[in-house]
Amino acid sequence: MFRVTRRYQFSASHRLYSPLLSELENERVYGKCAQPYGHGHNYVVEVSARGPIEPVSGRAVDTDALDRLVQRHVLQPFDHHNLNVEVEAFRTTVPTAESLALEIGRRLKQNWKAAFPAGGPRLERIRIEETPRNTCEIGADEIE
Ligand code: NI
Repeated sequence: MFRVTRRYQFSASHRLYSPLLSELENERVYGKCAQPYGHGHNYVVEVSARGPIEPVSGRAVDTDALDRLVQRHVLQPFDHHNLNVEVEAFRTTVPTAESLALEIGRRLKQNWKAAFPAGGPRLERIRIEETPRNTCEIGADEIE
């Protein structure tokens, strides 16, 4: 078994603000990330998959297939968009790095079978770098 990790990048804006909290509590929890007009990040996303070597290609993961999957379901809908406004899931969930990793994992899991053959690689992990100081990861089997 091999674990293959592919790295992607997108830029997006967001605001960390929960309607369940008061203005003051939002400020206390999220600090300047709660400011009303939002701010941007250059996100780095690592997608890891695990699988056996496919004997003809000598590879465990068809990286073109992975790129197409990530492009279509993550980069296109997220890159240069406002996550709170333009991504359905974040109208009700605060777009923290954690919820972003979860949403990306859900999207990849939902569309994985259409992209890879049975017996091929399995999604293993999503890792997000929001800033050089802030990274967050979730295992595919921790995603519902
Ligand atoms: Ni932020």
